[in-house]
Amino acid sequence: MEIAAILNKPFGWRCSPNIAIVKYWGKLPGQLPASPSVSMTLDQSATETTVWFTDRKQVVEFEFDGNPAPLFAARIRSYLESVSGLLPWLLQVGVRISSRNNFPHSAGIASSASAFGALALCLADAHKHLGLVDGQQFYPLASRLARLGSGSASRSVFGGFALWGETPSVEGSSNLEAIALQPVHQVFSRMHDMIVVVSDQKKQVSSSAGHALMNRHPFAGSRYEQARQRASLMPDVLAKGDLETFSRVTIAEGLGLHALMLASDPPVNLLHPLSVEVIQLADQFRLQTRLPLAYTLDAGPNVHLLYPEEMKPEMDRFSREYLAPLSGTVKIINDFCGAGPQPLSVQNND
Ligand code: DP6
Repeated sequence: MEIAAILNKPFGWRCSPNIAIVKYWGKLPGQLPASPSVSMTLDQSATETTVWFTDRKQVVEFEFDGNPAPLFAARIRSYLESVSGLLPWLLQVGVRISSRNNFPHSAGIASSASAFGALALCLADAHKHLGLVDGQQFYPLASRLARLGSGSASRSVFGGFALWGETPSVEGSSNLEAIALQPVHQVFSRMHDMIVVVSDQKKQVSSSAGHALMNRHPFAGSRYEQARQRASLMPDVLAKGDLETFSRVTIAEGLGLHALMLASDPPVNLLHPLSVEVIQLADQFRLQTRLPLAYTLDAGPNVHLLYPEEMKPEMDRFSREYLAPLSGTVKIINDFCGAGPQPLSVQNND
């Protein structure tokens, strides 16, 4: 291994966030999930990150949107330390990182998944360049590295749908890294996500504090069992194009996550009055049209409306007739199921 092979050479990746269908909520030491989760990776929203390795040993520089971000640099320094067991050469180099999101910070889209996904891909890329990982193990390594930054990021290094967490019925599933779920019926590979942004306030509860609420949660045991059962349904649901089961599970998971938070000690309420209104409108629409519109929420107030391509005209009508008249600020971001991360064609400007 010749470290010089990666010095001052750009490694750049684009990676999108994901929306969880079966939620990861509750973790064990070592950044391991208490139960398996399944998500869909998005396409349009993305983080683009470029990493340069320098000879300024263990110096970490981080810029976001072109501006130095020393606070983030501190978090990244401890992240890089935590992955140096997997990438021992990191101890011999400095790291300069430049990152940007193409979605506004205020969009309420969780950015830790795409941020750590993109960074992990750059690190795995350098590891590959050093001849330390082959093509087949590249994405599993990237997923493992991403997980150590943020659990949900492990799923963002795959396009389509990904599963993270040991699930006996799914061969190859692991707590250490996510796997892509395949085959996926085209109603799902062409799935849309209309993100109804009802609030762009900063999260009141960090993910880590949220997961910690599960450590002494009275319903933890039954929740983990429920997540295991639902995750084990997903390969078949996705392969067959079973929209009914998909929307039932997706809705139950989004509402169930908030129910768990509301039943925590202390209770946490992340719903906005408009979240509830949007949910009720979606329920009305489902009842009136009998269409399998699915919706979900992560640990925040914004509502993700998931629907297949065939429902697009009906959903445009939903947006016009149901969402537009809502009082209050509602912003809509239209995204869809993505094909997965892409390497950036970056210039070597060092
Ligand atoms: C509600 O992955 O953000 O979005 O591992 O502490 O970084 P950390 O947590 P994070 O948790 C995501 C929680 C969720 C559900 C999900 O994405 O599965």
